[in-house]
Amino acid sequence: VIGFVVVTLCACVPSGADSPPEDAAAEMPKNLQVLPKTMTVLDVKNRMVDVAKSLGVKCSFCHNVKDYPSDENPHKQVARGMFRLVEALNRDHFNYEGAPQVTCFTCHRGDEHPLFAPAEKGKGEKG
Ligand code: HEC
Ligand code: HEC
Repeated sequence: VIGFVVVTLCACVPSGADSPPEDAAAEMPKNLQVLPKTMTVLDVKNRMVDVAKSLGVKCSFCHNVKDYPSDENPHKQVARGMFRLVEALNRDHFNYEGAPQVTCFTCHRGDEHPLFAPAEKGKGEKG
């Protein structure tokens, strides 16, 4: 039993560009409210790596990394709204022929705070 718990926790530690262990491919997330429920833990983690890079943050910005399904970190709830925002933007406005798809990076560009005004002399006005 102890061995099993250790393996499960290790599977939750982000491993950068390395692929997570095989069993994450079969494991299903416990608390998805906006992402498709067909996504496996591995699918979700791969998506999350892009999300974290887009905001220039670590997993711990939104998660208790010992308990990914937990909603205790308020940034996670904000991020859920952002997932809905991106989905709505793409569905309702970027649906024309050849339309690009908006991502977290489109606005965030590697920063948790998108700019609210044109950058001047290298400094942008943050909200
Ligand atoms: C900007 C916030 C944010 C960051 C950064 C982030 N996540 Fe998430 N993560 C979320 C949200 C929001 C959900 C829930 C999505 C939903 O409700 O459909 C989630 C869900 C998950 C889940 C599913 C948990 C479950 O069982 O329900 C895993 C696993 C996960 N994230 C792993 C990671 C990893 C690994 C990283 C770092 C590479 C990371 N996340 C970075 C916001 C974030
Ligand atoms: C249309 C532009 C836009 C898109 C697309 C977007 N965001 Fe945001 N996001 C913002 C703005 C603007 C803020 C407010 C930033 C601030 O407080 O300075 C914000 C704030 C946040 C915050 C709170 C940051 C904090 O410091 O509290 C999180 C978390 C977040 N976004 C996650 C995401 C994720 C995840 C995605 C992709 C699913 C995403 N955002 C896509 C514009 C966007």
